[in-house]
Amino acid sequence: MLEPGEILGLRPADANGQFPARPPQRQTCGSLQQLQAHSRGIHLICAQGCWSVQILTPRLFRLRFGLRPASANGPSGDFLPRRSWDVALADEEWPPTSFQLQESPAQVHLSTSLVQVRIDRDPIRFSFQDSQGQEFCADVPFGLTWGSDGIRLCKHLHPAEHIYGLGERAGLLNKRGRRYSHWTRDCWNYDAHSDNLYQAIPFALFLRPNLCYGLFLHCTHWSQFDLGQIDPEQWAIEVRAPELDYYLIYGPTPALVLETYTQLTGRPPLPPLWALGYQQCRWSYASAAQVQTVAQQFRQRQIPCDVIYLDIDYMRGYRVFTWDPRRFPEPARLMAQLHEAGFRVVAIVDPGVKFEPEADYAVFDEGLAQDFFIRRADGHLFHGYVWPGKVLFPDFLRPGVRQWWGSWQRVLTQAGVDGIWNDMNEPALNDRPFGDGGQIVDIPLDAPQGPPDEPTTHAEVHNLYGLLMTRASREGLEQLNPNRRPFVLTRSGFAGIQRWAAVWTGDNQSSWEHLEMSLPMLLNLGLSGVSFVGADIGGFGGNATPELFARWMQMGILYPLMRGHSALGTRPHEPWSFGLEVETICRQAIQLRYQLLPYLYSLFWESSQTGSPILRPLLYEFPDDPQTYEISDQAMLGSALLAAPVVRPGVRCRAVYLPQGTWFDWWTGQAHTGPRYILVPAPLEQLPLFVRGGSVLPLAPPCPSTAHLRRDQPHLKLYPGNGSFTLYEDDGETLAHRAGAWATTFFRLQQQDSQLILGIGARQGNWIPPERSWLLEPLGHTPLSLPDTGQPQQVLWPTPEDPPFS
Ligand code: GLC
Repeated sequence: MLEPGEILGLRPADANGQFPARPPQRQTCGSLQQLQAHSRGIHLICAQGCWSVQILTPRLFRLRFGLRPASANGPSGDFLPRRSWDVALADEEWPPTSFQLQESPAQVHLSTSLVQVRIDRDPIRFSFQDSQGQEFCADVPFGLTWGSDGIRLCKHLHPAEHIYGLGERAGLLNKRGRRYSHWTRDCWNYDAHSDNLYQAIPFALFLRPNLCYGLFLHCTHWSQFDLGQIDPEQWAIEVRAPELDYYLIYGPTPALVLETYTQLTGRPPLPPLWALGYQQCRWSYASAAQVQTVAQQFRQRQIPCDVIYLDIDYMRGYRVFTWDPRRFPEPARLMAQLHEAGFRVVAIVDPGVKFEPEADYAVFDEGLAQDFFIRRADGHLFHGYVWPGKVLFPDFLRPGVRQWWGSWQRVLTQAGVDGIWNDMNEPALNDRPFGDGGQIVDIPLDAPQGPPDEPTTHAEVHNLYGLLMTRASREGLEQLNPNRRPFVLTRSGFAGIQRWAAVWTGDNQSSWEHLEMSLPMLLNLGLSGVSFVGADIGGFGGNATPELFARWMQMGILYPLMRGHSALGTRPHEPWSFGLEVETICRQAIQLRYQLLPYLYSLFWESSQTGSPILRPLLYEFPDDPQTYEISDQAMLGSALLAAPVVRPGVRCRAVYLPQGTWFDWWTGQAHTGPRYILVPAPLEQLPLFVRGGSVLPLAPPCPSTAHLRRDQPHLKLYPGNGSFTLYEDDGETLAHRAGAWATTFFRLQQQDSQLILGIGARQGNWIPPERSWLLEPLGHTPLSLPDTGQPQQVLWPTPEDPPFS
């Protein structure tokens, strides 16, 4: 249990180590006594503490409230120093931005070109206004309170506001009306009512027509958002930390909020192309022979696949950075054979290091010798229990530990492993050996962590454990394979995890509820800056039925990370395990995914540039259409494709909401005009899918894996209407794109009466594609082939041999 007094250092424990009960009195902020302006913003001093308002861009504000120690004689001493592991960009990194300061007897006004901050003097309270005078994110009177259990700030909840993001959350899309805390947890068997899961991302996005803003609570301690649960007209943020520190980001669209939020916390680097292919996992493919059989099955059955995973059984007795000599006697040979067949291999790594003195287990010996493992407050080594039995936990907060851990991955990369899967890094541990009736516990909150010059306790950095392990993993891979793009997958993380790894939603279940829930979960992760995400296709725990599996594979082609996985003891869950009909459905679904790869890869690039989600809720594209605000069972892949997966058994037809514009049925080409609901056939073999009018959709010919993907036959499907698309290409594998070896081609489609005009821009960048022609296929017109000259070109339909489009 958290003991907030311990964190804040405000309440002493009694002789028995017990903390007194929560004090009844909470304090609140008084009137403004002194205002100090500086080049970045202002300090507002009241009797009990100090507010700092920093203006980082015209749409980004950082607000901090620090309790003022009696001895402090100025606001500069009131705030905590920046941590070396801070996930947010330092204030000094933002170029200075101009703002105006105006004072009146009752208020202080700060304004940028986009937002006005109004600050009441007595009591101090903030509200924000956009250029149309719409108020948002306004503190309620006396909304700031604190006690020995932390600091809390209450704000008005606008009746029309819908709330999204919050990281990894079970349940439906809109998060209004509930309370969410931020504390990373292993949560086997989670459901729609679970609170803390594996990721902790204290970021929320508030949306109403014409107005969107985000709030990032800059706090790694335990924190909470109450989004109208206690009082439907208020929302609150609460921290068990000595300071309240948040960023307010004004949009007015979700896209603009995310662009700034990911400038603040980082953007996802471009992954290797192979990581966009289908990935097959199982706990476990437990021998080299089993792995080879699975790989062969994919090729023989002509089901595209890029990645095979090695779960914990490749290790010797679950010791990290070892190979089991019996099951995997020649790992390098196995990897070479798999590579030859166009597969990549990703291996699991857990943080717990088996406690094994005098056993010549070098990871343990080295870690102990260098004092890399977390100790308890009394100085003894802290241990918990995970797969290998008794384990110790490296302190990833220390750069030297990260470096050491990253380099141990050589045991895997030297054998040819291509990517690393970081699991159990909440961290997940039991107080007793597994199978011994123990409980999931945390590392003690008072356990010291961090480098000697920056000591802290686990209470402050629990939420960072997974993120920092993942950082060690990524940085290690970059050193071990200097010119290869790393692929790291993680279960746990914090805000900014997108910089280091892809995320999957942990131990879901083979149930229709979990299939349905996976979509809003991934959509909210995308709205939290984490775009490279997926859920285990088929469900991890339990047994999928053939129908569930078929529907899940169809949904899975939309997941940015498309991975099938299943737990020990469950029935086989490979795409061919459910009979011929389901195998055919899976093959077609995965083939469609591979067809879409050029489009998807461009979306990953866009995400690396702007932080945009790859899989998006409809509201991201249509933020002014309130009809989209509660849609949890439809999603957009980029801005061109709208999918409406089936998430219930027996359903062969479903209602689909089409927002404003023209939408073409992917399967039939039939046009529909939105906004409206339509009823769409959804036979078992078909994912209801629509293309937005004006789309230019780059497609690839079918192939067994991305290693076989051809760049010399680019196929562009054109859907009548007005729109544009930037195709991004590079070698898909190395870091040469960082030095300019990339290519973008801009396409603009215009519909003018019965004419369809495609403009192709000059190719940008230094990556040179093979000699090739664009195969242009406009819906309702004659396809034509056009050499890719890299120069601007224009094509017009109808062509002489083309009947006018009707
Ligand atoms: C955890 C992971 C799961 C993995 C298993 C064994 O439950 O979430 O994906 O298969 O551990 O390593």
